[in-house]
Amino acid sequence: MKVLVTGGAGYIGVELVRALLESGDDVTVLDRLYFGGQPLEEFAGRIRLIQADVRDFDGAWLSDIEGVCHLAGLSNDPTAEYNPSANWEMNAVATQRLAAACAERGVPRLVFGSSASIYDGIGPGMYDETTEVRPRGAYSLSKKFAEDALLELASEEFSPVILRQGTVYGYSPRMRFDLVVNTFLKDALLYRKLFLHGGGWQWRPLVDVRDVARAHMETLRAPRDAVHAQIFNVMQENYQVRQLAMLVSGSLALTGRHVELVDAPLPALVRDYRMSNVKMTQVLGFTPQITVLESIEGLLRRLPLDGYAELAHPRYYNIAWMTLLESVQESQRAFASIY
Ligand SMILES: NC(=O)c1ccc[n+]([C@@H]2O[C@H](COP(=O)([O-])OP(=O)(O)OC[C@H]3O[C@@H](n4cnc5c(N)ncnc54)[C@H](O)[C@@H]3O)[C@@H](O)[C@H]2O)c1
Repeated sequence: MKVLVTGGAGYIGVELVRALLESGDDVTVLDRLYFGGQPLEEFAGRIRLIQADVRDFDGAWLSDIEGVCHLAGLSNDPTAEYNPSANWEMNAVATQRLAAACAERGVPRLVFGSSASIYDGIGPGMYDETTEVRPRGAYSLSKKFAEDALLELASEEFSPVILRQGTVYGYSPRMRFDLVVNTFLKDALLYRKLFLHGGGWQWRPLVDVRDVARAHMETLRAPRDAVHAQIFNVMQENYQVRQLAMLVSGSLALTGRHVELVDAPLPALVRDYRMSNVKMTQVLGFTPQITVLESIEGLLRRLPLDGYAELAHPRYYNIAWMTLLESVQESQRAFASIY
């Protein structure tokens, strides 16, 4: 299949590109390479790369494309809150425009990387795809707008499919250390301390990055009638944050490293919800399998454990990278106005 992956140089995107290539697909990546192009280097000569902003989408990029996996955009709450207008342009408007281009050009399927954070704001509970959501915050509001826009564009010829991805964990060549399991592992390695805000009793749905890639593949290939204009939750299991801290500290204890768990005050914004993955299992016959424990083992094998100061680099922490790049741009502008 000829597949376009937007955001293909990102944390999930790189693993999706790998999975598509392994199954013999022809892959084009559209990405502005905000975090650099290094994660795609291993695919050199095997993919086509369009280095561009999804906000400038050109319908000609869809010629011959049979399926799109759309992952480009701002990918968490802090970056969306930091620059709400960029977030709206990328996550809401550009997604709507991309889907309209697919519908117009006869691309039969678009799989959208939406987010479980859409369930945030209803309060603690177990949610499925029929739950009436009340998203709060710039990020989840833009994801909800995009979901609705996609569903409105569904037609005989065009099938949008929405994947509400839980918080992702695990190793990818483009690492993110701003996602709860990965953050805990980084903090445990760097500082030997994990903070449990409000005791860490909050529930979160989680899923390994390779399982998310597989969910996109399954959805791309599924019979039209099974997935046409459908929403699927994507997660392996619901975990309490406290449990995640124990899994990380216990895994490190097995390697001889002691990690202290410390109680900390509850933050102003608390995310606390669970979701069901039954629909994906029943309709697609696919259930994410890779547990947090297995994933931590994989991370410990692949991370540079001797020189792990590198793990604190802002490139792996989206909001830190965004604020750093913007302050560099501001200094350059100030410099240019003086000289
Ligand atoms: N990682 C998670 O836990 C998670 C959970 C739920 C949903 N999601 C969603 O999945 C998608 C991918 O997430 P990720 O973790 O891989 O994020 P990421 O930040 O690692 O990757 C995003 C990629 O998109 C590219 N990109 C960003 N804005 C772009 C633009 N305007 N034009 C072109 N390219 C652009 C970036 O360069 C990057 O390569 C996002 O839409 C995110 O909202 C992620």
